[in-house]
Amino acid sequence: MELNILTLCYLVGSITFILGLKMLSNPVTARKGNLIAAAGMTIAIFGTIFLYSDDEGPLQNYAWIFGGLIIGGIVGTMAARKVKMTAMPEMVSMFNGMGGACAALISIVEFNHLMKLHEGGIGGEISGGFLLIILLGLIIGSVSFAGSMIAWGKLNGSVKDFSFKGQHIFNMALLITMLVLAVYMVINAGTDNSIIFYIIFILSLSYGLFFVFPIGGADMPVVISLLNSFTGVAAACGGFLYNNPVMLTGGILVGAAGTLLTILMCRAMNRSLTNVLIGSFGGTSAKSGTGPAKDQGLFREISLTDAAVIMSYANKVIIVPGYGLAVAQAQHACHELEKLLEEKGVDVMYAIHPVAGRMPGHMNVLLAEADVPYEKLKEMETANEEFSTTDVVLVLGANDVVNPAAKKDADSPIYGMPILDVDLAKNCIVNKRSMKPGYAGIENDLFFQPKTSMLFGDAKKVLQDLIIEIKNL
Ligand code: TAP
Repeated sequence: MELNILTLCYLVGSITFILGLKMLSNPVTARKGNLIAAAGMTIAIFGTIFLYSDDEGPLQNYAWIFGGLIIGGIVGTMAARKVKMTAMPEMVSMFNGMGGACAALISIVEFNHLMKLHEGGIGGEISGGFLLIILLGLIIGSVSFAGSMIAWGKLNGSVKDFSFKGQHIFNMALLITMLVLAVYMVINAGTDNSIIFYIIFILSLSYGLFFVFPIGGADMPVVISLLNSFTGVAAACGGFLYNNPVMLTGGILVGAAGTLLTILMCRAMNRSLTNVLIGSFGGTSAKSGTGPAKDQGLFREISLTDAAVIMSYANKVIIVPGYGLAVAQAQHACHELEKLLEEKGVDVMYAIHPVAGRMPGHMNVLLAEADVPYEKLKEMETANEEFSTTDVVLVLGANDVVNPAAKKDADSPIYGMPILDVDLAKNCIVNKRSMKPGYAGIENDLFFQPKTSMLFGDAKKVLQDLIIEIKNL
């Protein structure tokens, strides 16, 4: 009876994960989807705690379980409440690392368990298949944990890019050594190879560190997504070990979702995964980020008053949000400007590039936070059809996603990346704080085009001043 209820709990958990994931694909249903999946996970966790039973009887160690749940719950809630939108990839990386660590710890615990049973003559022959799953969980989980910690450190600035000559060969050697050792252990499953097991553990941790160290800090979202898929696979290994269907489903879903997201991000940047992992775009060499602009000719500045006038008398305005909008936390001011212009009869919409900002859906989440109606957000393809009939495009802290070099300059590192064709509009106002490059560390010809005018300043301050100007017209 208990087993049936537990199976039912796992079924509910698995279904809610799939349902939740589906709902996460649309901003309107995303919040609900997250709650539904979390409810499913809660059912699966409490089902396991109270209904699970094996040869040794039901679970006993409630103090440890609830101690962990309470501490983890408090830390997680506090972190999620405090985190700023711009620090979200950082937090995802940290949480992902914890998932990887859990998977690796499960492997260590189960390996010791297996060894004890074997020594006591209870477990019989050690199964090579079972050992393989333990080793996979250990390797993938450890790589994911160590890599995610470095990614977390890079994103918060505490870890700098680090590489040395021949690093890729060194990484390859690490990878091959641990795989050879793992194969050796599986082939010799009957013997006690505990020392080799812990050597593999250390090599996996080292591989995680050295794999992420040389990758440019700005490429971390892609790396985090990749590591996220690793954690999913490592968790699925745990599902195999414990014969736990919900852990298996959850792990596979995370693994698949992380892989798809990695592919989508690379595609939206027109880069291969290899280029992200061993290329230098966004890395130390290309990411100048702070240097002054090259001399590309003259750019035109626009005053707040002139910007307010042309926007107020426009028929159609498209706002292009970018990373700078998130940095300035200007989403509320942006929504206020949009409402003000609409009151004046201007048709206002937002053009959302798939990799604007620093994480998937960054702009959607940001604008949803300010209650911008979802219908106003136009995806790149739709927006590109609108620009030619647009009077004013207001680019707010976006740079690479509107850089024409992606179309025109075959030597540019972003060549081939689909962009928002803002230069098709009658006027283009670009708000940023300086002429410095964006994420890719390259100049932007858009800023020097005759139809473009620069409106310098912090996005939030500029928008607030623009609102005052428009109200005073
Ligand atoms: P970026 O190209 O990074 O440009 C952002 C611009 O915002 C900068 O040029 C900066 O110029 C400006 N800015 C910064 N703070 C500001 C503030 N407080 N007020 C006003 N402007 C400010 O951003 P983007 O156009 O959104 O492109 C995103 C980039 O990230 C792409 O290259 C993409 O490939 C990459 N990327 C995205 C993702 C995802 S999934 N979204 C993942 C990995 C990589 P100033 O310093 O002059 O102000």
